[in-house]
Amino acid sequence: MYFTALIDDLAERGWSLQRGVIPTDVTAELAAECRSREVQGALSPAGIGRGDALAVREGIRGDQILWLEPGQSPACDRYLALMDELRVTLNQTLFLGLEEFECHFAFYPPGAFYKTHLDRFRDDDRRAVSVVLYLNEVWEEGDGGELRLHLAGQAPVDVTPLAGTLAVFLSGEVPHEVLPTRRDRLSLTGWFKRRALVGG
Ligand code: OGA
Ligand code: MN
Repeated sequence: MYFTALIDDLAERGWSLQRGVIPTDVTAELAAECRSREVQGALSPAGIGRGDALAVREGIRGDQILWLEPGQSPACDRYLALMDELRVTLNQTLFLGLEEFECHFAFYPPGAFYKTHLDRFRDDDRRAVSVVLYLNEVWEEGDGGELRLHLAGQAPVDVTPLAGTLAVFLSGEVPHEVLPTRRDRLSLTGWFKRRALVGG
């Protein structure tokens, strides 16, 4: 099965890094789209929290985002189709009961970062699995901008945000941060969500 290594990692340790599960032409088209949307000024400063609690706080995160909508481009639709395959596979193998996938382009200008956090909101704990696809074709030693996973009982793992790398982890269990970047940093960040509990 296509996602076997990813599923095994997630089951055993709660996180996985994959290269090669997203076709390179899809990644390249997504990168071009993220870049052109950013140049058009279509991205907005990301908030913290949801709804009324949504606040832009540059001291916590400095990225700009644009949510993906089905039908916005062939590359986005191919990516959403792949994520739906992954969602179904996760449900069949790990019984996670994932119902939805949501994702946004993210652009971190030089100097931007995102302090250590979990991908959960106090008023919405439906996010179960986080998936980040990196879109930069070039990333050099000293460019910063690594995703740092803080894993229990071991040294942190730093992920270089190079195009084609997919980082996957359990949203509520792996604290993580984006270290300050020194060059434009492009990614597509998404979450698989569980069904809402009755009354919750
Ligand atoms: C996030 C996040 C990580 C990354 O958007 O919640 O943690 O590497 N992003 O972009
Ligand atoms: Mn996060």
